Amino acid sequence: MNEQETGSTLWHGRFEGGPAEALMAYTVSLPFDRQMWSDDIAGSRAHVRGLARTSLLSDAERDEILSALDRVAEEMESGAFVFVESDEDIHTAVERRVTEIAGPAGGKLHTARSRNDQVATDLRLWCKRQLPQVAAALIGLQEVLLDRAVAAGDAYLPGYTHLQRAQPVLLAHHLLAHGWAIARDVDRLADTLRRLDVSPLGAGALAGSSLPIDPEGTAADLGFAGVFDNSLDAVSDRDFVAEAVFDLALIGIHLSRIGEEWVVWTSGEFGFAQLDDAYATGSSMLPQKKNPDIAELARGKSGRLIGNLTGLLATLKGLPIAYNRDLQEDKEPLFDSVSQVLLAVSALTGMIATATFDTEAMQAAADEETTAATDLAEFLVRAGVPFREAHAIVGAHVRSTLAGDGTLRDLVAADARLGPDAAALVAPGAGVRQRTSRGGAGPVALPGQLDRYRAMLVRERDAFDAADR
Ligand code: ARG
Repeated sequence: MNEQETGSTLWHGRFEGGPAEALMAYTVSLPFDRQMWSDDIAGSRAHVRGLARTSLLSDAERDEILSALDRVAEEMESGAFVFVESDEDIHTAVERRVTEIAGPAGGKLHTARSRNDQVATDLRLWCKRQLPQVAAALIGLQEVLLDRAVAAGDAYLPGYTHLQRAQPVLLAHHLLAHGWAIARDVDRLADTLRRLDVSPLGAGALAGSSLPIDPEGTAADLGFAGVFDNSLDAVSDRDFVAEAVFDLALIGIHLSRIGEEWVVWTSGEFGFAQLDDAYATGSSMLPQKKNPDIAELARGKSGRLIGNLTGLLATLKGLPIAYNRDLQEDKEPLFDSVSQVLLAVSALTGMIATATFDTEAMQAAADEETTAATDLAEFLVRAGVPFREAHAIVGAHVRSTLAGDGTLRDLVAADARLGPDAAALVAPGAGVRQRTSRGGAGPVALPGQLDRYRAMLVRERDAFDAADR
């Protein structure tokens, strides 16, 4: 905040004494809501044009206020704006300054408006600017996953269940698995944006106005797709914040799962990937260390994103309709979740784009003979053996090979029910080629998946570019 001057509050008329320092210190929201300044000015511009349309302002007054708003915008942009002690929040600060610049006309800015409908409008506008940026960042991550998947070619690694080797899967397939989870995140953001695209401006403090205002007109002016139907709901609804913070928490959870994977992959024990120096950290004491701190923080900060959601939901629970000051607590979790997700996506995208895969280590781990067990059982199924029986036959061979009775391949080759054709399935690299079904993990199914993934990316880019938010 710039140098401070004192001034009286917007609501001093009814009060004899000024506010206590402790009250201001506790209740101000300016330190965080000032990032909505451009939304606040946009809302005020639309409001003022609306007041002039219904003759609550003369055209001259409208223009005076609009040019004062332009000047406030310039001051905000350049950092020249001087906040004063009585600026409780961004709405107060903008109105105070407009009144200083425009004189008596400025005093008409807040006609038929409350900070209650104003803040709800500002926050929806803020979401309409910021959530598409989160979506764009996620699309960038999906593109990197696609690039790395295409470049991975036929490389394969063990697929795990219970973190125990299960069946070999293409590295491309594994990378795209995360891309599909993120596709749902992007879709969820689009859905949240669609639902929040409703203007609350004109709801007033809680009940609308006795003056001839034009909520449909201001909604259209601001680019909202719809306008509120119930003033009480309009000022007390923070569902859109809860939805956005949920979307961001789930994104955080998806990023944390990617993070955990990379912590494991870059460990000495796995050795499946190496981080580029630019995306790894060292140890202050252990000279040999190269640590995956981005991946760990993607995992760790998901806790904070979940906390933002549960904190917000707790704040909203049980609030009497309509506005309560508690609602001021909606902004910090939302702002924090957006900024943390943007930082995480950017860092993880760079980390994944620049890392090196050790596909030999991956394949060596996947070539463990027993990962072919399911293929052997399915070989028997093709010969007409009921799956449960086939499972038992192959399970017995696995038990024998683990007991040291020979390699699985030899045991299978020697079994008349299986034989040499089945034994070929145990050969290195054979397993991954068996997964041919739609959406499966092998090279036969992959091209179809890649086509659908690319089409999904086109749809996402259209949804977020065309909207031009
Ligand atoms: N700073 C407040 C908020 O963020 C603005 C609304 C204040 N309204 C009121 N009636 N005190 O919610």
